[in-house]
Amino acid sequence: MTSESDNNVRIAASLLAADFSQLGREIKSLNDGGCDEIHFDVMDGAFVPNITFGAPVLEWIRPLTSLPIDIHMMVQEPARFIDDFARVGADHFTVHAEACAHLHATVQSIKAAGMRAGVALNPGTPVSALDEILPDIDRVLVMTVNPGYGGQAFIGGQLAKIAALAEQLPWRADGADLAVDGGVKVDTAPGCVEAGASLLISGTGIFNHPDGVIAGLAALRAAVNDAG
Ligand code: DX5
Ligand code: ZN
Repeated sequence: MTSESDNNVRIAASLLAADFSQLGREIKSLNDGGCDEIHFDVMDGAFVPNITFGAPVLEWIRPLTSLPIDIHMMVQEPARFIDDFARVGADHFTVHAEACAHLHATVQSIKAAGMRAGVALNPGTPVSALDEILPDIDRVLVMTVNPGYGGQAFIGGQLAKIAALAEQLPWRADGADLAVDGGVKVDTAPGCVEAGASLLISGTGIFNHPDGVIAGLAALRAAVNDAG
C-alpha cells in the first residue's frame, strides 16, 4: 500500500468512527492500508455537546502504531491536558482558537512539551483569528463541520477559508500543515486539495466504507490523486 499521494497530500483517519470493540484491529488496518496519520478526537461535553475519550485510551493504542497521532482537543482550556498527552506519546496537539483564553501561551506550552502545535477554527471563526499566531504554529485545522459528531455533511463554504490560508506564505513554506476535518469523503476531498489542503482528516469516509478500512483509505487516496 502506498502511504503517499502523488501530490504529497496526506490522509489522517479519525478514530471517532472506528469500531471501539476492535480498536487494535482497526489500527492494524490503518497501518497496513497506508494511512499517514491517526486523528484522535477528544470532546469534553462542554466545548462540544459530546464526550469521547482521553489520554488513558491513547496510552493503550500508542504501542500499536508508529504513525503520527494528532490530538484534536474539542475541550475548553485544553492547556490543562498538554502534559498528560505528551507523556503518553502524542505527536501533534491541536486546540481550538475559540476554546483558549490565552492561545499564544497555550501554543508555547504545547511546543515546550515536545509536540507540534495546531490550532483549529470552527466554521464560524474567521481566518483573522490566527493573525497574531500563524508564524508560531505547525498546523491549522479548518473545520468543515461544526465539531461534536462524525458523519456530518461537509460545509462547502469553508473552501474559501482553506484557500485563503493556503495563500498565506511563508507560513506554508515552513512545512506547516493545512488540515481539513469534517465530511471529508471521496466527493469532497478533491475540492479540499484544489483549495490547498495538505492533510485530509476522514472518519466515516474511511471506517464506514462497505469494503472495509483498507478499501476506504484506498478510495480516498485515489480521490486525492485525481485532484492532481
Ligand atoms: C468532528 C471531529 C471529526 C470527525 C470527522 O467533531 O472533529 O474529526 O471525526 O468525521 P467525519 O469524517 O465522519 O466527518
Ligand atoms: Zn477531529
